[in-house]
Amino acid sequence: MASQNIYILGIESSCDDTAASVIHNGNILSNVIASQKIHEEYGGVVPELASRAHQQNIVPVVDQALKKAGITKSQLHAIAFTRGPGLMGSLLVGTSFAKSLAFGLNIPLIDVNHMQAHILAHFINEAGYKKPPFPFLAMTISGGHTQIVKVSDYFDMEVIGETIDDAVGEAYDKSGKILGLGYPAGPEIDKRAQLGNPKAFKFTKPKVDGLNFSFSGLKTAILYFIQKETKANPNFIEENINDICASIQYTIIGILIDKLKLASKQTGIKHIAIGGGVSANSGIRDALKKGEQKFGWTTYVPKFEFTTDNAAMIAIVGYLKYLESDYASFNVTASARLKI
Ligand code: KG4
Ligand code: ZN
Repeated sequence: MASQNIYILGIESSCDDTAASVIHNGNILSNVIASQKIHEEYGGVVPELASRAHQQNIVPVVDQALKKAGITKSQLHAIAFTRGPGLMGSLLVGTSFAKSLAFGLNIPLIDVNHMQAHILAHFINEAGYKKPPFPFLAMTISGGHTQIVKVSDYFDMEVIGETIDDAVGEAYDKSGKILGLGYPAGPEIDKRAQLGNPKAFKFTKPKVDGLNFSFSGLKTAILYFIQKETKANPNFIEENINDICASIQYTIIGILIDKLKLASKQTGIKHIAIGGGVSANSGIRDALKKGEQKFGWTTYVPKFEFTTDNAAMIAIVGYLKYLESDYASFNVTASARLKI
């Protein structure tokens, strides 16, 4: 099969990134992304603005992906698109665009679950990158998601833990807002955390049973802490910013690693893969390395461009489904709450 020349276009529009990618067999030829800057002014994604920006971006982004891949649309074998989960108005733009393109070209349409795609991004061919063997555990950590998934095969996945409120990236972004940092605040907190003392301030970890997560209590604890300290010293934040960031990061990474340890113990699986924007975090990367030595884990972290929201991950799922002739009907609809 793989010896055939299969070209698939992947389209991602679930949140605030309009993205398109062309995959040739398992190899990514182009991975184009238009990130919407407009939301920075609002400190979070504004759904109406996101869908309008997708409408403006989708044609040029797809054109560029084809151009960079050096092919024309008549060479495509299928169109893969994100069906969900995500923001309805955003998903609709990608879904209807993908449908009409596939219909016009008379080629199969392939629907992709965004959460599965974050995980299957590990199967993109990349020189020097070792793909995880089945079964493995995948932790997807981003601004929109926090899940631990037991992956038994490409399309045999079970969510064994997830957040009951905020996603971990939201915990970073909301903490950053309290501290007056820009949006998204994750990268800035991470940078400052590396210059500070992680034990300077103590935030209690939430008590959530089993493998689920909760981050909303932490955000409130940080808010009260900052309110109390700035009352006593109006310059508290600027005088202690690195230590505050390091302490927040230490708490968040502690929560993630505690749950991973428990998941690994419960399932007996020691192959651990991560995905999502927060996997860029230096704290989680260090903690996973330590896990390799301490618990005998083998860990998998994809290239950054394949780990934040992107269309290459949609294209690889498209390719895997194409090999199985697993196509969508042209009646398929976007699904904001699609489950794994
Ligand atoms: O995967 P992504 O690009 O989009 C989705 O949310 O789906 O993830 C973005 C999130 C934001 O919350 C951002 O603050 C966080 O990832 N992030 C980080 C880091 N880089 C990005 N959080 C902590 N440390 C980082 N280095
Ligand atoms: Zn995502």
